[in-house]
Amino acid sequence: MAKHQLLSTVERRETLPESYIRPESDRPRLSEVMTDNNIPLIDLTSPDKERVITEIGLACQTYGFFQVINHGISEDLLEKVMAVGLQFFRLPAEEKAKLYSDEPSKKIRLSTSFNVRKETVHNWRDYLRLHCHPLEEFLPEWPSNPESFKEIISTYCHEVRLLGLRLLGMISLSLGLEEDYIEKVLGEQEQHMAVNYYPQCPEPDLTFGLPKHTDPNAITILLQDPKVAGLQVLKDGDQWIAVNPRANALVINLGDQLQALSNGAYKSVWHRAVVNAAQERMSVASFLCPCNSAVISPAPSLVADEDAPVYQSYTYDEYYKKFWSRNLDQEHCLELFRTPKLQ
Ligand code: OGA
Ligand code: NI
Repeated sequence: MAKHQLLSTVERRETLPESYIRPESDRPRLSEVMTDNNIPLIDLTSPDKERVITEIGLACQTYGFFQVINHGISEDLLEKVMAVGLQFFRLPAEEKAKLYSDEPSKKIRLSTSFNVRKETVHNWRDYLRLHCHPLEEFLPEWPSNPESFKEIISTYCHEVRLLGLRLLGMISLSLGLEEDYIEKVLGEQEQHMAVNYYPQCPEPDLTFGLPKHTDPNAITILLQDPKVAGLQVLKDGDQWIAVNPRANALVINLGDQLQALSNGAYKSVWHRAVVNAAQERMSVASFLCPCNSAVISPAPSLVADEDAPVYQSYTYDEYYKKFWSRNLDQEHCLELFRTPKLQ
């Protein structure tokens, strides 16, 4: 029997269990969250390629995230991914128990909250985490129930990867680097996926689906529930902004590795997921991750002659281990790799 129970297998609760209640100083304060209608929205079919690259660059400097439309992944596939994800979380408890694990290094696992072994307060989320590249290696271990899961999710993974690589090319260009610069530095990238399920929550003001965090990888492509909001990002260090879902758009955010490679010019922003009392919510996050041996350091052309690079070089393996050894909402993990200031 799993030590921590999945939220998706228990009856709906009337009150929030104690272990999910955040201290007063660390609650979502939902009434103070704003909606910003200017969140960058980028049309990838726009004929003016230079302009698209400029827009991406601006979005990466200011918000650290943007939404893309006309990204090439069909509406039909996006709907199927959401539907099969939801079907998965509706499976009987015994079926899900087979996949349950609290061990972050496991490549295929169903879990709850974030890192139940490290955290003091739990989060109102269940998630299925899958390694997705190379597909042939991991596919046999993926859930075979629901029956269409493997086919739908593997098709999506393949398309998301192509989109992610295309975006990395545009991000390289926007930094004045060769189009393949970032892809080369990151090596044969891993691809991970988190299918997030946030059940209805009796007291959404007291807890998070995911508390504030930055993503440790290179780039994240998030498919949001088209009907239920929950993703929020921190703007200018002090204002939470709701990224309301937009049909057929994908949300792109930069992870810590792009902040490091860009010498801090581009931001891996704090973001979080909040929950609500009326509806359950799903999201599907796809993460492109440098290969473990990739050496990450600021691109030399982005470091001014007289300055030291903002971050020291490290391997992604070192970074990832550090990330998972901590709780989610501590200081930005990249701060631990900052070049010490000379006195
Ligand atoms: C994540 C994440 C946000 C969401 O999985 O890293 O930030 O809206 N998810 O589920
Ligand atoms: Ni995230």
